[in-house]
Amino acid sequence: MIIYSEKVIEHFMCPQNAYSMPDADAEGSFGDPSCGDALTIFIKVQDNCIKEISFLVFGCCASIATSSMTSVLAKGKSLDDALKISEEDIIKALDGLPEAKVHCSNLGVSALRNAINNYYEAIKTRIKEDSQ
Ligand code: FES
Ligand code: FES
Repeated sequence: MIIYSEKVIEHFMCPQNAYSMPDADAEGSFGDPSCGDALTIFIKVQDNCIKEISFLVFGCCASIATSSMTSVLAKGKSLDDALKISEEDIIKALDGLPEAKVHCSNLGVSALRNAINNYYEAIKTRIKEDSQ
Protein backbone atom coordinates (compact mmCIF):
# COMPACT_ATOMS: atom_id res chain seq x y z
CA MET A 1 0.00 0.00 0.00
CA ILE A 2 1.25 3.49 -0.85
CA ILE A 3 1.11 5.94 2.04
CA TYR A 4 1.21 9.65 1.27
CA SER A 5 2.09 12.53 3.58
CA GLU A 6 -0.67 14.93 4.61
CA LYS A 7 0.95 17.61 2.44
CA VAL A 8 0.73 15.39 -0.66
CA ILE A 9 -2.91 14.65 0.05
CA GLU A 10 -3.60 18.37 0.60
CA HIS A 11 -2.05 19.31 -2.77
CA PHE A 12 -3.77 16.42 -4.52
CA MET A 13 -7.20 17.26 -3.10
CA CYS A 14 -6.77 20.99 -3.57
CA PRO A 15 -4.10 21.67 -6.23
CA GLN A 16 -2.75 25.22 -6.40
CA ASN A 17 -2.57 27.07 -9.75
CA ALA A 18 -4.25 24.28 -11.73
CA TYR A 19 -5.61 26.09 -14.78
CA SER A 20 -4.81 26.77 -18.40
CA MET A 21 -3.21 30.11 -19.33
CA PRO A 22 -3.90 31.01 -22.98
CA ASP A 23 -1.99 34.31 -22.70
CA ALA A 24 1.13 32.84 -21.08
CA ASP A 25 4.53 34.23 -22.06
CA ALA A 26 5.78 30.66 -22.40
CA GLU A 27 4.87 27.08 -21.69
CA GLY A 28 6.82 23.89 -21.24
CA SER A 29 5.77 20.27 -21.20
CA PHE A 30 7.22 17.03 -19.99
CA GLY A 31 5.93 13.48 -20.09
CA ASP A 32 7.12 10.31 -18.46
CA PRO A 33 6.90 7.54 -21.05
CA SER A 34 7.12 4.81 -18.39
CA CYS A 35 3.76 5.72 -16.81
CA GLY A 36 2.18 8.02 -19.41
CA ASP A 37 1.83 11.01 -17.07
CA ALA A 38 2.19 14.39 -18.77
CA LEU A 39 2.43 17.94 -17.49
CA THR A 40 2.34 21.39 -19.09
CA ILE A 41 3.44 24.45 -17.13
CA PHE A 42 2.51 28.01 -18.17
CA ILE A 43 4.39 31.10 -17.00
CA LYS A 44 4.00 34.87 -17.15
CA VAL A 45 7.24 36.77 -16.61
CA GLN A 46 7.79 40.27 -15.29
CA ASP A 47 11.18 41.84 -14.50
CA ASN A 48 12.81 38.44 -14.98
CA CYS A 49 10.60 36.89 -12.29
CA ILE A 50 7.77 34.37 -12.51
CA LYS A 51 4.77 36.58 -11.90
CA GLU A 52 2.17 33.93 -12.64
CA ILE A 53 2.41 30.18 -13.06
CA SER A 54 -0.17 27.51 -13.73
CA PHE A 55 -0.30 23.93 -14.92
CA LEU A 56 -2.39 21.19 -16.46
CA VAL A 57 -1.46 17.62 -15.67
CA PHE A 58 -2.65 14.21 -16.71
CA GLY A 59 -1.47 11.74 -14.15
CA CYS A 60 -1.54 10.08 -10.78
CA CYS A 61 -2.15 11.79 -7.45
CA ALA A 62 1.59 12.20 -6.84
CA SER A 63 2.06 13.94 -10.18
CA ILE A 64 -0.83 16.30 -9.35
CA ALA A 65 0.65 17.08 -5.93
CA THR A 66 4.20 17.55 -7.27
CA SER A 67 2.95 19.80 -10.10
CA SER A 68 1.05 21.90 -7.58
CA MET A 69 4.08 22.18 -5.29
CA THR A 70 6.33 23.07 -8.25
CA SER A 71 4.04 25.99 -9.05
CA VAL A 72 3.99 27.13 -5.42
CA LEU A 73 7.80 27.00 -5.13
CA ALA A 74 8.40 28.77 -8.46
CA LYS A 75 5.88 31.60 -8.09
CA GLY A 76 7.62 34.93 -7.48
CA LYS A 77 11.12 33.50 -8.00
CA SER A 78 13.59 34.91 -10.50
CA LEU A 79 13.98 32.76 -13.61
CA ASP A 80 17.50 31.82 -12.51
CA ASP A 81 16.33 30.70 -9.07
CA ALA A 82 13.36 28.82 -10.54
CA LEU A 83 15.76 26.91 -12.81
CA LYS A 84 17.55 25.70 -9.67
CA ILE A 85 14.44 24.09 -8.12
CA SER A 86 15.25 20.40 -7.80
CA GLU A 87 13.30 17.19 -7.36
CA GLU A 88 14.62 17.08 -3.78
CA ASP A 89 13.20 20.56 -3.08
CA ILE A 90 9.75 19.44 -4.22
CA ILE A 91 9.88 16.18 -2.29
CA LYS A 92 11.04 18.01 0.85
CA ALA A 93 8.28 20.62 0.55
CA LEU A 94 5.73 17.79 0.31
CA ASP A 95 7.16 16.10 3.45
CA GLY A 96 8.36 13.19 1.36
CA LEU A 97 7.07 10.88 -1.35
CA PRO A 98 6.79 7.09 -1.32
CA GLU A 99 9.73 5.44 -3.11
CA ALA A 100 7.59 4.30 -6.06
CA LYS A 101 6.44 7.90 -6.62
CA VAL A 102 9.76 9.72 -6.36
CA HIS A 103 10.01 9.90 -10.16
CA CYS A 104 6.79 11.98 -10.28
CA SER A 105 8.76 14.96 -8.89
CA ASN A 106 10.74 14.98 -12.15
CA LEU A 107 7.67 16.04 -14.13
CA GLY A 108 7.40 19.43 -12.43
CA VAL A 109 11.12 20.19 -12.51
CA SER A 110 11.49 19.24 -16.18
CA ALA A 111 8.32 21.01 -17.38
CA LEU A 112 9.29 24.16 -15.46
CA ARG A 113 12.81 24.16 -16.95
CA ASN A 114 11.33 23.64 -20.42
CA ALA A 115 8.95 26.56 -19.91
CA ILE A 116 11.79 28.86 -18.80
CA ASN A 117 14.06 27.74 -21.64
CA ASN A 118 11.20 28.27 -24.12
CA TYR A 119 10.75 31.76 -22.68
CA TYR A 120 14.45 32.56 -23.25
CA GLU A 121 14.23 31.16 -26.79
CA ALA A 122 11.17 33.33 -27.55
CA ILE A 123 13.02 36.42 -26.31
CA LYS A 124 16.05 35.59 -28.45
CA THR A 125 13.84 35.14 -31.53
CA ARG A 126 12.10 38.45 -30.85
CA ILE A 127 15.43 40.27 -30.50
CA LYS A 128 16.66 38.72 -33.75
CA GLU A 129 13.46 39.69 -35.58
CA ASP A 130 13.59 43.26 -34.22
CA SER A 131 17.17 43.72 -35.40
CA GLN A 132 16.35 42.64 -38.98
FE1 FES B 1 1.04 7.52 -13.55
FE2 FES B 1 -1.07 6.88 -12.11
S1 FES B 1 -1.02 7.99 -13.87
S2 FES B 1 0.79 5.92 -12.18
FE1 FES C 1 4.71 8.58 -13.23
FE2 FES C 1 3.39 9.88 -11.40
S1 FES C 1 3.40 7.75 -11.74
S2 FES C 1 4.70 10.69 -12.90
